[in-house]
Amino acid sequence: MNRFTVAQLTDLHVRPEGVPAYRVAETNMLTERALRRVAAESPAVDAVIITGDLTDCGLPSEYDLLAGMLRRTLTMPVYLIPGNHDRREVLLQHMPATRSMAGGFVQYAVDDLPVRLVMLDTVRPGAGYGELCQQRLDWLDRTLAERPNQPTLIGMHHPPFQCGIAHMDGIALRAPEAFVAVIARHRQVRRIVCGHHHRPVVAQVAQAIASIAPSVAHQVQHDLSIDGPAAFVMEPSAFDLHLWDQRSGFVSHTVLVDSFPGPFPFLLDPDYPGCSG
Ligand SMILES: [Fe+2]
Ligand SMILES: [Fe+2]
Repeated sequence: MNRFTVAQLTDLHVRPEGVPAYRVAETNMLTERALRRVAAESPAVDAVIITGDLTDCGLPSEYDLLAGMLRRTLTMPVYLIPGNHDRREVLLQHMPATRSMAGGFVQYAVDDLPVRLVMLDTVRPGAGYGELCQQRLDWLDRTLAERPNQPTLIGMHHPPFQCGIAHMDGIALRAPEAFVAVIARHRQVRRIVCGHHHRPVVAQVAQAIASIAPSVAHQVQHDLSIDGPAAFVMEPSAFDLHLWDQRSGFVSHTVLVDSFPGPFPFLLDPDYPGCSG
């Protein structure tokens, strides 16, 4: 296959039925709408990854609700990893077919697609920040060494870089240098896609382009002041669509879930015939 698409949804923060997150964000409704938007994409999306904070509190009822939504809505393969709001054991029990590795980490490679997906578990239970312990880093190094020539996209919840939003930078991936050193040894890693910050952000990590996808639920307020308070806003729900083709490699699009007026044709203005869209 010369062309392949991976939709990245993140930070769904699903709650028990009828309960908004933080008393404001209707995360279940927003998640359902985002899943339907992915399902309606044409041409069809080939695979979906969900990069953590699947639920808000890691409750069995939250995972059951999400599992039902995924079952009803999507037919393509879906690959999950946890975020700091998840609980690994509950996730593994209630989300059928989620893969894990030794130690109970939800960390695995997907090798049966045209591009390789390597999904990392950056959760430290009980903490908002992320970590990759030596066991997970060693697994990553070994796993990447297995297929040095296959274009690889890494999915992880906590970003391995600082983005300038102070309260989120305080809970990013701790000690990212060790992770960056592993990535730098494996030049086939082209993209690192993250969640957690609830905003679209792009950076460079070693040779790879790294990005944070917007949340399908609430967004973190855009505030680059050094002492900005933690706050969220109900900016539009969105997800990232990573397109891979043999000529261009990975190209990423941010897709808004809402509908807007249009599409309209680019009609020429008869007074300015040289001006065309
Ligand atoms: Fe989140
Ligand atoms: Fe998070």
